[in-house]
Amino acid sequence: MTSCPHLILAPMEGVGDRTFRKAMASVGGFDEAVMDFLSVPKNAHIPSLSKKYQADELSPIPLAAQLMGSDPELMADMAKEMERRGAHRIDLNCGCPSNTVTGNGAGSSLLKDPNLLHTIAKAMANAVSVPVTVKMRSGYGDTSLFKENLLAAEESGIKFLTLHPRTKVDGYGPPAKWELIAEAKSLLKIPVVGNGDILTVEDALNMLKQTKCDYLMIGRGSVANPFIFHQIKAHFAGTTYTPTWEALYNYLQVFLSELPEEMPMRGKINKMKQLFGFIFKSKPALIEMRRSMLTYTPANLTDFLDATIPLLHKGWTAP
Ligand SMILES: Cc1cc2nc3c(=O)[nH]c(=O)nc-3n(C[C@H](O)[C@H](O)[C@H](O)COP(=O)(O)O)c2cc1C
Repeated sequence: MTSCPHLILAPMEGVGDRTFRKAMASVGGFDEAVMDFLSVPKNAHIPSLSKKYQADELSPIPLAAQLMGSDPELMADMAKEMERRGAHRIDLNCGCPSNTVTGNGAGSSLLKDPNLLHTIAKAMANAVSVPVTVKMRSGYGDTSLFKENLLAAEESGIKFLTLHPRTKVDGYGPPAKWELIAEAKSLLKIPVVGNGDILTVEDALNMLKQTKCDYLMIGRGSVANPFIFHQIKAHFAGTTYTPTWEALYNYLQVFLSELPEEMPMRGKINKMKQLFGFIFKSKPALIEMRRSMLTYTPANLTDFLDATIPLLHKGWTAP
């Protein structure tokens, strides 16, 4: 049996925040995480922006920094600052579909201009001694510049490339086109990280088989099942990993304890609803209760947990 590929926890702005990452790190199983993007606008004040990033947040698991912007000089300066703050790797975001972001020429907008993508990635790679990487979608409106973008990224001096094979226009709608990961793998010399729609160990194995990608990155599948990385690792070790209810309960306790103290109670309830939303959606016995869980307006967080955790306990089965 081959060895387990490097497993990466995906960046997920608004969902995969510090609270989620800390809870995931308490479970473990992944080799590296990527922080959600730090936006580097034209008027960026680099020292204050960079404060959001703590390289040792998940220690001993490394946390890569991700930058999003379109000004090569500023991006290079920000990359330097991230290196100074201890980043072991700095990733360039070429995938964010948000119109406020793409309106500024950053994120997935870079896929419209392979030359600009190349210039930014090269400026970053030349500015630091740690690896610079690119995370991209398959295109903006379509995949007509797919190969150009892949080659532009590789030729900039990046160390590896993560591909989420949907266009910006696809959003998260149609299934990820894994055949594009296979295409990237056959075109590039640098390692390719496969990403998109891995929800189970079987999906992970199928992606590896179909695309021959080098590493795997998982986002939403880990929100629904925080044990997925351990389960993939166990498969490659020739064993199985069956999480218990206690393990899920402990994970939820860490998640609760890591919610920012200053967060208002409603914010905390909404964060719990967001997390439970993913878990409920993944379980047939819970899916019907998802809407009522999401629309329930409790007086406080304790009431919400008292009502929801027993439902979860009853309907949750080991993935
Ligand atoms: C809520 C949310 C926020 C995201 N934020 C980021 C981000 O900050 N940077 C990034 O490169 N990708 C971001 N992504 C994309 C994911 O990293 C990943 O590429 C995508 O969800 C497909 O992988 P998955 O099917 O395993 O979730 C985000 C995705 C979601 C669902």
